[in-house]
Formats: sequence, C-alpha cells, structure tokens
Amino acid sequence: MFLINLTKSLPAVAWAALAVTLSAQSGGPAVLQIKADQVAAQVSPLLYGLMTEEINFSYEGGLYAELVRNRTFMEDAKEPVHWKLVQENGGAGSMALDPSRRFNTAIPTSLKLTISKASGNQRVGIANEGFWGIPVRPNTRYRASFYAEAAPQFKGPLTIALVSDDGVTVQASARVGRITETWQRYEVFLTTTDAPVSAANHLLISASKPGTVWLSMVSLFPPTFANRPNGNRQDIMQLLADMKPAFLRFPGGNYLEGNTIATRFNWRNTIGDISRRPGHMNDAWRYWSTDGMGLLEFLEWCEDLNMQPVLGIYAGYSLNRQGEQRVAPGADLEPYVRDALDEIEYVTGLATTPWGQLRARDGHPAPFPLTYVEIGNEDQFDRVGGGTYDARFTQFYDGIKARYPRLQFIATTNVTTRVPDVIDEHYYRNSEDLMASTAHMYDTRPRTGPKVFVGEWATRVGSPTPNMSGALGDAAWMTGMERNSDLVIMSSYAPLLVNVNPGGMQWKTDLIGYDTLTSYGSPAYYAQKMFSLYHGDLVLPIAAQGVPTRLWQPPTPSGRKGPDGAPPATPPQAPAPQQVPTLFFNATLDSKTHAIFLKIVNRESTPQPVRIEIGGVSALDPKGQSIMLSASSPDETNSITDPTKIVPVVTSIAIPGTAFTHTFPPYSITVLQMKGR
Ligand code: AHR
Repeated sequence: MFLINLTKSLPAVAWAALAVTLSAQSGGPAVLQIKADQVAAQVSPLLYGLMTEEINFSYEGGLYAELVRNRTFMEDAKEPVHWKLVQENGGAGSMALDPSRRFNTAIPTSLKLTISKASGNQRVGIANEGFWGIPVRPNTRYRASFYAEAAPQFKGPLTIALVSDDGVTVQASARVGRITETWQRYEVFLTTTDAPVSAANHLLISASKPGTVWLSMVSLFPPTFANRPNGNRQDIMQLLADMKPAFLRFPGGNYLEGNTIATRFNWRNTIGDISRRPGHMNDAWRYWSTDGMGLLEFLEWCEDLNMQPVLGIYAGYSLNRQGEQRVAPGADLEPYVRDALDEIEYVTGLATTPWGQLRARDGHPAPFPLTYVEIGNEDQFDRVGGGTYDARFTQFYDGIKARYPRLQFIATTNVTTRVPDVIDEHYYRNSEDLMASTAHMYDTRPRTGPKVFVGEWATRVGSPTPNMSGALGDAAWMTGMERNSDLVIMSSYAPLLVNVNPGGMQWKTDLIGYDTLTSYGSPAYYAQKMFSLYHGDLVLPIAAQGVPTRLWQPPTPSGRKGPDGAPPATPPQAPAPQQVPTLFFNATLDSKTHAIFLKIVNRESTPQPVRIEIGGVSALDPKGQSIMLSASSPDETNSITDPTKIVPVVTSIAIPGTAFTHTFPPYSITVLQMKGR
C-alpha cells in the first residue's frame, strides 16, 4: 500500500531541514534514501515561469513578429535609419524625414519620397533592411501595409515587394493603385511561391512615375503564433510553450524603469492602434522600441501560453541613480499610483469600467486574471540619502490594496513599513561552482517572512547562450529552489532571449538564441524544460551519504572603491577555498499519479554510481523512465549553427526494486521517473 503522510504538520522552519540531510563523504558511491511516504514541502504550482523585457532585441527583431525596422521613422530624428533610397535603371529621386508633414499626433514626422525622374523601366523607391535581413520562406503569406498620402500630381501606383538583397529575385510583390491626398492605410498580401529560405532580403516600396509621396507605419508581418494580428514569431513562441511556463513577469527589468522617468515603460503609450503608438528610446538597453509589444500584447502572450501575468508596476525610480530620476514619495508619487490603478483596471476591469472599456476597444473585452503585482525593479539600488523604496512601496501598496484587496504584492527588496506577500530576489553568478555553492541556501532560510520569487537568476557561463557548465550550475540551483518550493514559490531565469546577430546582444548568457530565420534552446533551456515538465506536487525528504565534493576557490570580492573611484584602501582578501558538492539532487512526488521524480545533477567529469533507496513504498513499477541531458565537456553548447547538439534523451529503464544503483554519466542532468505501488 502506498501511503503518503499528507497531514504531517511540522514547524515551518523544520520543513527544509527534513527535505535533505547531507552526511560527509564515505568513500563509496553516494547513497540517497528517499522517504516516499513523507512530505517535506509542497511544490508551488507557479515555480517555473518566464521573465521578459526588451533586451538583446527580444521583441524588436525577436519575438514580436514585425519585420520592418524603423517602421514609423521615429528611431532617429535626423535620418531614416535602416532605410535606403533605391534608384533603378536611371530613375532619380530623394528621400528625407519630413517633420512638417506629421503622420499623426503620436508620430510627428513622416518619410518624404520625391521621384524626380522615372519612366519606362525606371523605378525609384525606399528599401527597408529589416532586422538583420527579412526572412523569406516558400509558400508563405506576408501581410504588408503602409500609410501614405500623395502630392496632388502623384497618383501611384506604388509597388511593394520582397526583393533579394542582390536585386536579382523579386520574392513576392503587389501593386497599390491610387494613392489619395490624405493619409490612408493600404494593405496587401505578399505570397511567395518556391522561394528558397533566406534572410538576405529587403522590403521595397517603389514607383515608376514622378511625384511626391509621404509614408509612415510601413509594416510587414509573416504568419504569427495563433494567427494573432500584430502577433509573435512562431518558432520562438513554440520554444517557450514547450517549457510550459506558469507565469510571465513583464515588462522588466531595467526596461520597466528606463534610465530616466521619461524613458520608462509608459504603458499608456503602448496600447491601442499600433499606428498611434509613439514608441520610445529603450535607453536601458540602448535601442529603439516601437512599443508594438505593448501591455495588451504581453497579456495576450500570457493567454496564448496559459501563463499568469506578473505585472511589473513602474514605482518612481529610474536607473540614472541621480536624485532627479526618483519621484519623491508623497504628493509627487500620487500620479504614478493613480497610473498603476488605471493600468490594473485596463488588465482586470470589466468592459464597463473606463479602462476595461478601452481594453475592449483594443479587441479584448474579457478581463485578464491577475494575482501578482510587482512594485518596481531592483529597488535596492535606490540608496541615495538612505533610499526611498520603503516609502514608495508603502504608497503603492496602500493605494492599490484599497481598491484591489485580493492582489498579492511583490517587493523588490526588503521593506519594513508594510509586509509584502513576496520578495523578488535576483542571483546572477559568473561560474558554475559559484552557483552550485549557493544551491542549498534556502534549506536553512527561516520560513517566517514573505515568500520568495527568484525573479532573475542565471549561471552566466557561455555566450551568447549558456553552455553545459551553465546548465549544470542552473540545474544544481534548481534542485534547491524546487526542494524549498514552500518558500520559493516562483522563479524565472533572465534574460530569456537574445538575437545572436552581430550587435544583437547587450547581456551575455541568455536562455534562447535566434537569428532572422531560426531559433534554438541552450543546454540551460533544456535543463529548465526538464525541471518544469517533470516534477510532482510534494517534496520528498532525502537523507544522503557520501555526496562527492570538489575544492573551489571563491572569487576575491572587488571591494568598495574609495572616493572618486580610487582603489579600495585595504585590498580585499581572497576567501578561503571551500568544498562544493558535485552531486545535487531532489525528489518530488505526484500525489495523484504516484509518480516519483528523482533529479540528479552530476557535475563530475567521471560517471557517478548512486545507490538509490526508496522507502515508504511496498514496491516500484519495474518500468521507469530516464530523461537525461549530458555533454562530453562543460564547454559544449548549442548554437544557431548546431542548435540541438545537447538535448534531453528519454529512455525506458528497468527499476529492479526499491533499492538499486544507477550510474549517472559525466556532466549530466537526469530525471528518473518511477512509480510507487
Ligand atoms: O536581466 C538583465 C538585467 O539584470 C535586468 O534588466 C535587471 O533587472 C537586472 O539587473
């Protein structure tokens, strides 16, 4: 008979201690004694989620499927960057930004195309280079659109075409007849036939008759995930869907805060018709954002992948770290609290509320579910004059709680005047050993305070995406989060996405890489997918003996600089070397199916035999399953040219009884799935 003591009631602090007991190395193989009839903790259903922001061309030239770069000519005030004038067969003309001919109040400029000479086969036009090219695939239907207004003598037609960069092949084209003298939207479909897959293409809008025409909001979308208009790239969405994430933390990160208050993520400018969104300079990560990926698009992304939104609220602190980039708590901050209340109403309000009505106008009458709001981002950096986060948090908390009593509040650092429901902690580690050395840190954390959201974390080894060493550090760390999931209720790796084209990356070591045509998951991506897909709802206690370790020299801290950046007065001392485990593990049980998931991370360069003893079950199903990710060296990795070098391998395994020895290969992450009887 399979018995689980679900009603066990322990003082909170004892739970994690029960979850893992480590004894010193014995010389023989490690022994893990798992008690399948006891419960050390519950696994939070929200443990594995996603964190996202506009970094590394995550949306622009990434997930957001728009293929035209600088579609409203707002990216640069002087030049129509990413556009070129095309003059074919002796045709002549010019192009220039024309702020005197504004498109609308949000987009106070346009592009003026003057065709001075064109007849017969002569053509003049503008070409957009896309984001590192424009992807062309066979038998594919692209939605092309633009706004135009013509000078009286110019009547068109305009031709819009996908053309190979060598100018040889027109991949698809369409004609737009009469262009009116006031701004109008024109939409056509460009359908390729047997075009080979390629990225070296541009979008060309051209004419063969003289005249002047102004253009704005030139857009090109390939088929999108779930066919959403203004939607997302299919391949990247599929990689994310495959992780089965429980939530999405958005819109940042530094991107939420901006370097200045004016360049924060201002949600109001990100909703409604995309042709009326001004966009903004993403100065935190130094490139333009169209805000095509706006508040509603984040929410629809959640809807498409069945994720809960975790809404980051701008909390009056921007990154310049100067006094003037903070909003003082009190009267100055009140408009920002009201702004947050409007934002929450846009997300959750019925279509009869003022902001809910706007959301309905934008195409989504049904309110979105919302449980968690996060007030700010990394506000521990607000230190000048002792910092203002406590007071800012309190003001947001009180203002929002009064209207939305059921919302849960996430603080980004410790606060004393109110009790947040959750604290967001961030851990970026520059080596596998460093990450692994902290993997047990939550085992002894008292359970008396708020719950923890590890909202950003990563073993930063490998670039642009983590290698196997990164994945091993991550997996060691994840065994600790999962084991302590009564405390760590949510987690999300960061950054999530990187465009691997030259100049695409601002932050090295990102979970998923892509270029214009394809995308891939890093070994760390697959490690996370394994953790997210294969776990139960209850943590089982494990007593372990003989866990192997290796000697590791922790890095010397950089030390506090003196005034004006002078080197520290006393040079920092190297910490003492320490032993770090090379074997990490945890076990969970699915209380409905009785599946046991034993996760083992072997960081050693040699195979590790491990004696596994499962108590509290009378027998185990003789057939089990192993899901294993391994590499021949810690440096091995996946890349855009070798995307699936390291992927999990699923095999059936024989489970000889409730006690057996299994050998785990070098540099491996394994889930053994067994079933108790
Ligand atoms: O993930 C990259 C950055 O790291 C985030 O924007 C910020 O929150 C953290 O400092």
